[in-house]
Parts: sequence; structure tokens; C-alpha cells
Amino acid sequence: VERELRALDVLTFNFQQSAAMSTLLINEPKYAWLKELGLSEDNDGVYNGTWGGKGEVITSYCPANNEPIARVRQATMAEYEETVQKCREAWKVWADIPAPKRGEIVRQIGDALRKKIKVLGSLVSLEMGKIYVEGVGEVQEYVDVCDYAVGLSRMIGGPVLPSERPGHALIEMWNPVGLVGIITAFNFPVAVYGWNNAIALICGNVCLWKGAPTTPLTSVAVTKIVAEVLEQNNLPGAICSMTCGGADIGTAMSKDERVDLVSFTGSTHVGKMVAMTVQERFGRNLLELGGNNAIIVFEDADLSLVVPSAVFASVGTAGQRCTTTRRLMLHESVHDVVVERVAKAYKQVRIGDPWDRNTLYGPLHTQQAVDQYLAAINQAKQQGGTVVCGGKVMDRPGNYVEPTIITGLPHDAPIVHTETFVPILYVLKFKTEEEAFAWNNEVKQGLSSSIFTKDMGRVFRWLGPKGSDCGIVNVNIPTSGAEIGGAFGGEKHTGGGRESGSDSWKQYMRRSTCTINYSKDLPLAQGIKFE
Ligand code: UN1
Repeated sequence: VERELRALDVLTFNFQQSAAMSTLLINEPKYAWLKELGLSEDNDGVYNGTWGGKGEVITSYCPANNEPIARVRQATMAEYEETVQKCREAWKVWADIPAPKRGEIVRQIGDALRKKIKVLGSLVSLEMGKIYVEGVGEVQEYVDVCDYAVGLSRMIGGPVLPSERPGHALIEMWNPVGLVGIITAFNFPVAVYGWNNAIALICGNVCLWKGAPTTPLTSVAVTKIVAEVLEQNNLPGAICSMTCGGADIGTAMSKDERVDLVSFTGSTHVGKMVAMTVQERFGRNLLELGGNNAIIVFEDADLSLVVPSAVFASVGTAGQRCTTTRRLMLHESVHDVVVERVAKAYKQVRIGDPWDRNTLYGPLHTQQAVDQYLAAINQAKQQGGTVVCGGKVMDRPGNYVEPTIITGLPHDAPIVHTETFVPILYVLKFKTEEEAFAWNNEVKQGLSSSIFTKDMGRVFRWLGPKGSDCGIVNVNIPTSGAEIGGAFGGEKHTGGGRESGSDSWKQYMRRSTCTINYSKDLPLAQGIKFE
């Protein structure tokens, strides 16, 4: 009987297996290009020099139709453990390689990404749901930060400072922290890993990546590209490791003393837990958390810049960027005309399949986000808001909602102070500059901000101590779409981290102040005589 039962098990299993396989998008000729990225029906979700994945099998769904694309085998705790050990071993090799040579490897990673930019951008579009040009755009961010990091690999270092003691040298040394754990979010499944990876690598660190559980195919495809470069250069693959998984892996990384820096991108809520756990062990963290970004339009603004800016930054990526404009503050003299023009532009936004080259607006990433959208609209109405545009779930397959504009809410309504990761724009009416700057800063988050004005005095007040308290402070451009050359990140509940350009590399290194006596005497600092 037992044998018969087992045979039946096998039969059912085979049946389920083939049923599932026949419906996976990857098996449809239309999606055959996925194989160019090395993807198949079932994919290993662990890389540490060799591929593995003995944990839970997850299916990745396409947000535009909720059909399964392919499956990924996530990491078990034992595989996580093994990977961290391999990372630490690989670090011994990587840290000895001169920084410009590490830069050369990063240059090759950038080139490998260039070759796959269209197909990888298409995968981002299929799996995350953002439109094709934005998918390609975030691979471009990775390419750009590679170029940037190659240059940095010949530039980073510390100063030689004047010592007060004769025959002494006072120098600053920068060394890699070691192992950088990188936890990224669904909304930028390539770029955010790229910023961390390229900079961390040239600094002499090894990386362990956990991408979002809903974009595992993108994590696998990116890791395949990077792994090939490492392997071709006879370097340990574990220099860029990956363990796909959920909160279990994220928690393990946060607690793990061997993970010297935890770079986390995601919600303020989860970021806070990561920060506390990492701080508990005096580890380092780098946080990129929520935003509640405002565009402020003054009476002298060039409205031909304002309208497309507001539309790009609030409707783009279906409102799922950390830098998305969530609050549009309009001077009372331009309020009605701007609302009218922005609402008109909203109605012209071409909605469709994200990979269709004509589409400007695709689905939300998950069904859960659709629920959050509806809940936020309800709350906004209860708190006094009027929906002037959108407000409904769309009647089509996939997680589509109408991009929405809500007016009439008080600047301090609870919903206005909440970051809901969906395309809802709250329009606020203000009278004075002082009031507008204060409203910009009164939210908990501090990521991005923009003003539209021609008044130079106002521009510099905005950049100054009483101006925007955000990490990104713009003039006459939207809140989103930052370049990689600047430091990216924000203050307060946004977490305080800075990634990508400027001197963000410092977050991936530890500084030593070194005093070297090359004299035959032992003078003490501060003129102290101890004899
Ligand atoms: C994010 O939303 O997590 O500035 C990153 C931007 C992009 C990056 C956004 N370059 O909108």
C-alpha cells in the first residue's frame, strides 16, 4: 500500500509540476528572451562561487497580469551560513588586490551590464512592473556607478595632516569594512544593488545581497552577469554573493557580527528594526528608507516646467519611487490653474503593459499595494480630501490603479504625513514662503524636495539652514530622477544614509588616524612633559 501511495505521490507531483510548468511565462515563445539572462523554469537563488538553493521555492509573478514567470529556490539558513563563511574567505583575496585593479573588475562588470542592458531592463519591466525605459534606466544607473567607481578606485584616500610634533607624520588611512550585506527593495531591484556593489567593491569589500522576495529573477540575472566577470578573472565568486530569501535572511544579516555593514533600502518600519538590531551589536548600517517628497510651486514659477515635472515625479514608476512626489504645494495664486493642467496631463498618461514601448504607466507591484491604495483614498476622503482625478482600481488584469490627485486636505492631515507607496498626489494650497518651507520640513521623512521659482534669493534660502531639511534639495526639477554622481539619501526617518556618488564611499570604509614618529625623540602632544 505504501508503495502504491508513493507512486500516487509521484504521479500527483509530476502532474502539478507539469501543470505549473506549462503555465509559466518563461515557457512561452514571447518570453524566450528570458533565457538570454540564463534564467529557466527553476532557478538557483544562492550564489557564493557555486550556485545553490535548498530553501523554500518561490514563484515570481508579473504585476501586469499576475501570471507566474518562473521559480527561484531560496537560501536555507545553512546555506546562508556557508555563504557568509565563503564571503569572509573571499575577502582575504579581494582586500589584497590594489584598488585600481579592483576598479578594473568593476569596469568589466559595467561592460557586461551594457551588453545586457535591454534584456535586463525588459526583465525589470516584466517582474517589477515599471515601464521598459525605466527598467533600462535603472540598469543604466548601475552602469554609470560602475564608471564612477572605476575613477574613484584611483582617487579615494585620506589626507596627510600637519602634526604639531617635530619628526611626526599624521596621516589618515581608509580600509574596507569587510563584508557588506545589501538588502534591497522591489522598486529598484537593479540600481540600488548597483550603487552599493560598485562602490563597496572598489573600497575592497565583499558583498552579500538579498534582493526583494518579489523580484528574485532580477537578483539572479544580475548575479549571473557579475559572477561571470569574477569567474573569468579567476576570482572567488563569493566576492559578490547572493542569498535569496525573506525576513529570515534579512534578520540573520542584521544580527550577524561578521556582516560589518548592513545597507538596507526599504520601509521606515522595517529599517528601524534593522537599525536597532545592527546597533545592538555596534555594527554599521546604511539606511535608505521612506520619503514624503514635496514639490513647491511659487507664484513666479515657469508652469511649462512644473506640469511635466509633477506628472513625471508622481505618476512615473506608478508612484513607487522613494523619491516620488507625494505632496504638491501650490501658491494660492497658481493653485487652480496648476491643478487643472496637471489633472489634464494625468488623463493623457498612456496606461498599458509596462514593456509596451508606448506605455507611460504600468501596474502596482503587488495586490497588497492595490489594497493600500484604496485604504489611503478612503482615509484621505475622511480627512477632508476631494478626489479630482483617478481614485479607482482599473478593470483589467494585473494590479492597475488610476493615478490619483487629491485636493483640499490640511497640510498636516495624518494621511498627508504618511508615505503610501502608490500614485496618490496630495495637493496643498499655501500663502507664504515661510509656510511652504515649514510644511516641507514638518513631515517625519527627509528624502527629496523641489521648488519651482525664478527668485534667486528664494533659491538660496531654500538651500540654506532655514530651507529644506532633506538630503535632496532641487530647484526647477522634480523630486525624483537623481543622477548617480551625487550622494543619494535623506535625513530623519529616511535614515541618514548616503549611497552612490560624492563621498558616499566613506560609508563603506573605516578610517584610521595614524601618527608615525620618524624622529629619535618622543615629544607628547599638547606639550605634556611626563618625566
Ligand atoms: C529609490 O526609489 O529607491 O532618484 C531610488 C531617483 C532614482 C533612484 C530612486 N535615481 O528617483
